[in-house]
Amino acid sequence: MALFRRRALRWFDRHGRKSLPWQRARDAYAAWVAEIMLQQTRVGTVIPYYKKFIARFPNIAALAEAAPDELLHYWSGLGYYARARNLQAAAKKIIAQHGGVFPEKFEDALALPGIGRSTAGAILAFAHGARHAVLDANVRRVLARHYAVGEDGDARGAEAQLWELAGRLLPRARVGDYNQALMDIGAGVCTARPNCAECPLAAGCEARRRGEQLAYPRRAGKRARPSKSVTMLLVQNRRAELLLVRRPPSGIWGGLWSPPEYAHNGRAAPRAAMVRDCELQFGLVVKPGRALPGIRHSFTHFDLHIRPLPAAVVAAAPRVMDGGAQIWYNPKKSARIGLPSAVGRILEMLR
Ligand code: ADE
Repeated sequence: MALFRRRALRWFDRHGRKSLPWQRARDAYAAWVAEIMLQQTRVGTVIPYYKKFIARFPNIAALAEAAPDELLHYWSGLGYYARARNLQAAAKKIIAQHGGVFPEKFEDALALPGIGRSTAGAILAFAHGARHAVLDANVRRVLARHYAVGEDGDARGAEAQLWELAGRLLPRARVGDYNQALMDIGAGVCTARPNCAECPLAAGCEARRRGEQLAYPRRAGKRARPSKSVTMLLVQNRRAELLLVRRPPSGIWGGLWSPPEYAHNGRAAPRAAMVRDCELQFGLVVKPGRALPGIRHSFTHFDLHIRPLPAAVVAAAPRVMDGGAQIWYNPKKSARIGLPSAVGRILEMLR
């Protein structure tokens, strides 16, 4: 175990990332925002989003007070928008319960929305050097391979075993550097197809000794990825503005804006039903045209197939659009609202 730690830290000194924008200050707010962004997104993608986000919301108070639409605007394209909503809910809780300062106690950090055991540990270790382990998907892979954890195929037992191991492996000092080393090794070396020749931990790796790297981490049993198909109706008025509706607060893309969406039940949504819905919901008589090429968007748990279908407004019933739930969006001028990246790709097609 001492060897494992030493190898990880030595590797960090030579190859670890030390000048990421959130590493400059040992600041819990910076570490928190970065860890939330990094939960489902690679470092290279996160960096520009992080910089703009921090420039606009430089502290917990600014985040707590932000207009939700603007917050989602800054998150647009990063995906998994519940992260942004949780971030703000947590900021409000920190203002109300912790005097506006990110809590230093592990249990208090863990009690904030959007912060699990690994993220809480990462934030407190990075910001304060506190002795907490991390176990995100990348670190899990490193440890599961190195110690061949989960041989009996018991995924739940393996999880407990990995946390226990992660805790015992922690060094007394330089916990932040050590955690960063494991995250970086997991993200760049001990990947799905590992590059063992570059790995500082290879000499002690049990999975490698057995030639079974790809068998770890063990999975609980694979299920086929579900998928869902929808038509997005691209209703455009004479000024070529696009009708967007606000999505319900829960579910994917909650609170973001998208064209009206119609689920496929075995086959594409019938045109007549979409036309009738537009008249009822929006007071618009529309004429659908030819569908554009389909778009596939992958979420962690399912694939979404989008069939974009342009439709021109041919008449408007005398009904004022309710500004709260629907807008006419000018694709040439970007408004400060949250748009899912898949909708961004559709807007590109329209331009
Ligand atoms: N993934 C989650 N946190 C990370 C970090 N601090 N560095 C690199 N990848 C990460």
